[in-house]
Amino acid sequence: MQVIERVAELSSVLGEERSAGARVGLVPTMGALHAGHASLVERAASDCDVVCVSVFVNPLQFGSADDAAAYPRDLAADLVVAEKAGATMVFAPSVAEMYPQEPVVGVRVDGRLGTTLEGASRPGHFDGVTTIVAKLFNLVRPDRAFFGEKDYQQLLVVRRLVADLSFPVGVVGCPTVRALDGVAESSRNHLLSRQEREAAVVLNRALRAGAALLLAGGSVPRDAAELMADIIGAEPLVDLDYAVVVDADTLAVPEGVEGHLRLLVAARIGTTRLIDNLGLRVAA
Ligand code: PAJ
Repeated sequence: MQVIERVAELSSVLGEERSAGARVGLVPTMGALHAGHASLVERAASDCDVVCVSVFVNPLQFGSADDAAAYPRDLAADLVVAEKAGATMVFAPSVAEMYPQEPVVGVRVDGRLGTTLEGASRPGHFDGVTTIVAKLFNLVRPDRAFFGEKDYQQLLVVRRLVADLSFPVGVVGCPTVRALDGVAESSRNHLLSRQEREAAVVLNRALRAGAALLLAGGSVPRDAAELMADIIGAEPLVDLDYAVVVDADTLAVPEGVEGHLRLLVAARIGTTRLIDNLGLRVAA
């Protein structure tokens, strides 16, 4: 597995691969790789000849420079995870390599997709995500790029980035990898104390209870959202941000339960913010 820190080297290595006819997969990450990231790399390796894992803590998507500075970094450990999962190369540029000058041009995400839920809680976040993803698409020029359903709204936003700006990239959404107790794998789980980690189970428990209520029939999406909020609200260590049931494609709150729904929750445990979600299709 190659480790590449320079844009020029990335271009020349990938240029050779492409002219030899290789199908290129990209897995964008911010490092601190865990089993969730590994599952994306494995999926990419099963689909593509060359798998590039990018490791870059993107300053544009954080609320403050302090938040970005506090993000966990361990490139040596990341290289082990990436190689084991089947990566061909890890692209790990410095901020100066990616942004030799302060950027003044970026992508903006508007509408419900950009401004509700994570967009409301973290203003500017999706502008930062789509700007770096667009830049990575231009640098790597992948045939396919792999994103986790764990960040469900991000996955929808990236699909719109590709559609609205006509990037010739196939976006592949991959299922959420969970610990045995149901907690979604996340780099931020390591920031939790033992007690907080135990309390984090309530997010997945609330999602499953909301889904079960809707599947049982006789309830509307708002009932399930209230149930999820009550369950999370009953856990003293957890502060609810939102608990919603929305249309899986538009994120609009539907009247009925027919079709493809997504249950999404966000909460703060101590100083750590966690998100989780679940898909649900209720037969009409
Ligand atoms: P990061 O949080 O490192 O996540 C990288 C990718 O791993 C994302 O597509 C995310 O959805 C996926 N992922 C994280 N946890 C997962 C889990 N438990 N199961 C499955 N997939 C999981 O998301 C970002 O970085 C950044 O916003 C990025 C897209 C790299 C742009 O900077």
